[in-house]
Amino acid sequence: MRIAIVTCARMPEPDEDERPLMDALAAAGVDATLAAWDDPTADWPRYDAAVLRSTWNYHRAPQAFAAWVDAQPRLWNPPSIVRWNAHKRYLLDLERAGIDVTPTALLVKGSDARLADVMRARGWSDVVVKPAVSGGSYATLRVTSTNLGQGEAHLRRVVATEDTLVQAYLPSVEGHGERAIVWIAGELTHAVRKSPRFLDGHEAVDLVPIEPDERAFATRVLAPYVDSILYGRVDVARGPDGRPCLMELELIEPSLFLRRHPPAIDRLVDAIARL
Ligand SMILES: Nc1ncnc2c1ncn2[C@@H]1O[C@H](COP(=O)(O)OP(=O)(O)OP(=O)(O)O)[C@@H](O)[C@H]1O
Ligand SMILES: [Mg+2]
Repeated sequence: MRIAIVTCARMPEPDEDERPLMDALAAAGVDATLAAWDDPTADWPRYDAAVLRSTWNYHRAPQAFAAWVDAQPRLWNPPSIVRWNAHKRYLLDLERAGIDVTPTALLVKGSDARLADVMRARGWSDVVVKPAVSGGSYATLRVTSTNLGQGEAHLRRVVATEDTLVQAYLPSVEGHGERAIVWIAGELTHAVRKSPRFLDGHEAVDLVPIEPDERAFATRVLAPYVDSILYGRVDVARGPDGRPCLMELELIEPSLFLRRHPPAIDRLVDAIARL
């Protein structure tokens, strides 16, 4: 059984999970090779399964990535889930399904909506503007009354070429923090607190306990997918009422912060060995 651990040709940043995962797969006798989705010389049919891990440039070439995903015979997570999860309109799908999500307005590519009008209509004075297909906090800008001009220009630039989200800013990311809750092969394994990156570009990460209400929330968010996925991550902030609120459901290639919780490595390796 040959496994491709799928990365990208030019990593925007190093993958902290890569070394521990590759070492643990080798130690378990799993024949696993790192392969870049955007390497034209990669020989995909030679693998029995491909596991997405650090395809972190896909959001800059979403159509090429979607075509590659659809061409994979045995991909984890499964192609239909990856395709759905690649565009953050999935937040609105989950909201309709009754999940508390970060209040989100979707502006389609080419929209001429003014940011000030969106903010007024929704009653938001502090927002985040970001592309609907994104990763690594790319083109993500916080906008308040003090930089509305910059925000308006940013929205115009982004929405000219791609679907764009305007979201209410959730201040809890600065206090309690955004919690990334990791799920691997049937169970929530651990959680980390992530500092907001757009403050200084750097993302500090600390292992934290999974709070009971966040465990219940993540379990509910993941329920429709647990029978088909290998791994996932539920990124949770807290709303103004203090309740968990979905920032992102990451089912494509989330960092799993494996070094912070070594039992998660064994769990992932066992699951990959069983593919
Ligand atoms: N509505 C919001 N309220 C508060 N903070 C936000 C909001 N949207 C984004 N952020 C901050 O910006 C970061 C990046 O946003 P998000 O996670 O939605 O995008 P991403 O680029 O797909 O992900 P990542 O940086 O996690 O790979 C978040 O982790 C959070 O710190
Ligand atoms: Mg995120």
